[in-house]
Amino acid sequence: MLKVNDNFQKLPGSYLFSTIAKKVAAYSEANPDKKIIRLGIGDVTQPLAPAIIAAMHKAVDEMGATETFHGYAPDLGYEFLRNAIADNDYKARGCDISADEIFVSDGAKSDSGNIQELFSADAKIAVCDPVYPVYVDSNVMAGRTGTYDENTGMWSDVIYMPCAMENHFVPEFPKETPDVIYLCLPNNPTGTTITKAQLQEWVNYANKNGALIIYDGAYEAYISEENVAHSIYECEGARTCAIEIKSFSKNAGFTGVRLGYTVVPKDLSYEGVSLHGMWARRHGTKFNGAPYIIQRAGEAVYSPEGKAQLKQQVAYYMNNARVILEGLKEAGYTVFGGVNAPYIWLKTPERMGSWEFFDYLLETANVVGTPGAGFGPSGEGYFRLTAFGSYENTVAALERIKAL
Ligand SMILES: Cc1ncc(COP(=O)(O)O)c(C=O)c1O
Repeated sequence: MLKVNDNFQKLPGSYLFSTIAKKVAAYSEANPDKKIIRLGIGDVTQPLAPAIIAAMHKAVDEMGATETFHGYAPDLGYEFLRNAIADNDYKARGCDISADEIFVSDGAKSDSGNIQELFSADAKIAVCDPVYPVYVDSNVMAGRTGTYDENTGMWSDVIYMPCAMENHFVPEFPKETPDVIYLCLPNNPTGTTITKAQLQEWVNYANKNGALIIYDGAYEAYISEENVAHSIYECEGARTCAIEIKSFSKNAGFTGVRLGYTVVPKDLSYEGVSLHGMWARRHGTKFNGAPYIIQRAGEAVYSPEGKAQLKQQVAYYMNNARVILEGLKEAGYTVFGGVNAPYIWLKTPERMGSWEFFDYLLETANVVGTPGAGFGPSGEGYFRLTAFGSYENTVAALERIKAL
């Protein structure tokens, strides 16, 4: 008889966004006349930019002719895309990353979940708290996190680095030295980030302690401040301690298109084993490459027209972020984020729990956000709103919140 991977049984409760969806559906059913505005889930709403659509059309046509048809893609990605990434995201920023250190994938969620396959079963992971849930849950499935304490919402073998207003959402070096440190900057859910100088300290810490940093830069395109790094490889020494994961979802609206990449520098080796070699082997064994049409779409992100159009798209969302930030401040809320990221993190009023505030906002303003507690124990007492809605809905939502 098959024995299942019982680590899955350890995963607590249902996924955050399905709980929210159920609550919203129940409210809608009971109040069919109410128009609900959703500023909860981090999905984009603007259509793909014209340069990307044109590239996709062209690639579709190529697939329809024998001479230009493409079958299996190279499992590490097409050269044209890997070169475009290396030139634009790295060389142009002075980062020493070459095209053959870039592994193209179907998105950052898969990569950030899969990367833990490279670590030993007893590798100790450290995460910020609150955190994008994939990092912890993928390690739970691999049996690396010990036991779950329902009272604290924490795993016995995970190192948590609380990020709250008291430490300005900047993770501090943990007391116990981790083997792997997950950093998502700019951060989901808090919308905050750290300076390049602070990131350099993390790189120094990782190199000193033989730890690996998994750097999730999914929101890099939203950075507006000068002193914030766009890539961890802007920091000296990052080639020997960091893997960077990137997504095309938020900078180019690819959430339904699916494209991402992971950078594994060749200098990264532990116990004499190259992580670049391991990831190449893993990719080659378990992944058959992102689709040709989609990789051509990705290439268009780096074309002059694509860059100009996407700059406008990011500006559109960041204008929403400004509307939310200013509106919430006017309504008397304490707010964070929204400057280098499309997320606004607010302190719930009058010691309201974050789920309590979720219900309050849904019922009184018909606005949906995300309770901070869903991202980890230190998220309790906070609430996330996203700037990914339409401008009209964002303005309407804030008018409602201000009127409460
Ligand atoms: C921090 C972070 N990483 C990764 C992802 C997923 O990106 P992708 O759509 O490329 O899978 C998200 C999506 O919300 C995210 O917030």
